Amino acid sequence: MDMNNHNTVEKDELTGEKLLSGHEYDNIRELDNNLPKWWVWLFIITIVYAVIYIFVFDVIRVAPYQQEEWKKEMVAAGSLAPGQPAPVASASLVALTDKVSLDAGKDIWLKQCKVCHLEGGQGLVGPNLTDNFSIHGCGYADVVKVITIGVPEKGMISWKTQLTDDQIMKVASFVMTLKGTNPPNPKAPQGEPCK
Ligand code: HEC
Repeated sequence: MDMNNHNTVEKDELTGEKLLSGHEYDNIRELDNNLPKWWVWLFIITIVYAVIYIFVFDVIRVAPYQQEEWKKEMVAAGSLAPGQPAPVASASLVALTDKVSLDAGKDIWLKQCKVCHLEGGQGLVGPNLTDNFSIHGCGYADVVKVITIGVPEKGMISWKTQLTDDQIMKVASFVMTLKGTNPPNPKAPQGEPCK
């Protein structure tokens, strides 16, 4: 089967000039080919897809737009609705204190976080994490949350694709140990004082 449905030059010779499109530039002439069948089918499929899409998303509205889907997920994650209390599960999170976990947390800190917060947590691009001020909350659950979802518009990425939950808990626990350590050259306080 000729998938492309092309006229061939041989045919052209048989039937003469008819198969040429008629224009000529610098001695270059063009065969007046039919559109390839695969192309026509692709075109038809896109039209059918568009009709189904409009029907599903705008007429009967059985599927949510991306933005609505995103909002739902954000509300579910407890990070959109202002003043909404943190989910019970995270409110009951308790920082790890055993040496093995904190050492593992420190390893992650040195690899992933030091570049912006500096080794002692005194702050560089990111805020000082050793003082008694915080932008996103002082508790362990707040720290876990900000590491998990990030503050992408301010330069702190969401770490949930790079670190496992377990790793986030460990590095967050390590962050808690930085508070009050008074490293040299601290960045000026940002955010609200912790109670
Ligand atoms: C590319 C730079 C960058 C890296 C890497 C980075 N951070 Fe941040 N971090 C920031 C910035 C910038 C902010 C401030 C966000 C804001 O202004 O809301 C921040 C904020 C924070 C906060 C909240 C501070 C507050 O005052 O509420 C914590 C906790 C934190 N980072 C921990 C971490 C941890 C843990 C890592 C490593 C897994 C990390 N950060 C890696 C840039 C970074």
